Amino acid sequence: PAVNIKLNVNGKEHTLQVEPRVTLLDALRERLELTGSKKGCDMGQCGACTVLVDDRRVNACLMLAVMQQGKRITTIEGLAQGDTLHPMQESFIEHDAFQCGYCTPGQIMSAVGFSQENWGQTDADIREGMCGNICRCGAYPHIVAAVRDGRG
Ligand code: FES
Repeated sequence: PAVNIKLNVNGKEHTLQVEPRVTLLDALRERLELTGSKKGCDMGQCGACTVLVDDRRVNACLMLAVMQQGKRITTIEGLAQGDTLHPMQESFIEHDAFQCGYCTPGQIMSAVGFSQENWGQTDADIREGMCGNICRCGAYPHIVAAVRDGRG
């Protein structure tokens, strides 16, 4: 049976009814109409669904919505401040770090999480730290450059 839950997404509190098996990704996309987070594989392998939960990057397709109550969820829609893009978003544009763009919201959310973790500064560190985000177009050199410069 469906249960009532409260989700704090991008600073806004939402009340919704979901079945306990509904993933955070489906709740975001289908219930809250936040379709920036993409569903690539729905099994934790591509990173297209990456969001931040309490500032940590997670695959939203692997999380149950009911377990995210009381946490702060940030999606790609919540990254910009009004008309001002997040520095990581600016960096992806500047470096042309996408081709088809499908993986881009996940790449950017993962890059924001990555930049707040204790990784080294080399391109090899970026490649390792971002290895959970797949780009089927192969835009990796530009993505690495964007992550490097977007860290501020
Ligand atoms: Fe979640 Fe691919 S859709 S990791």
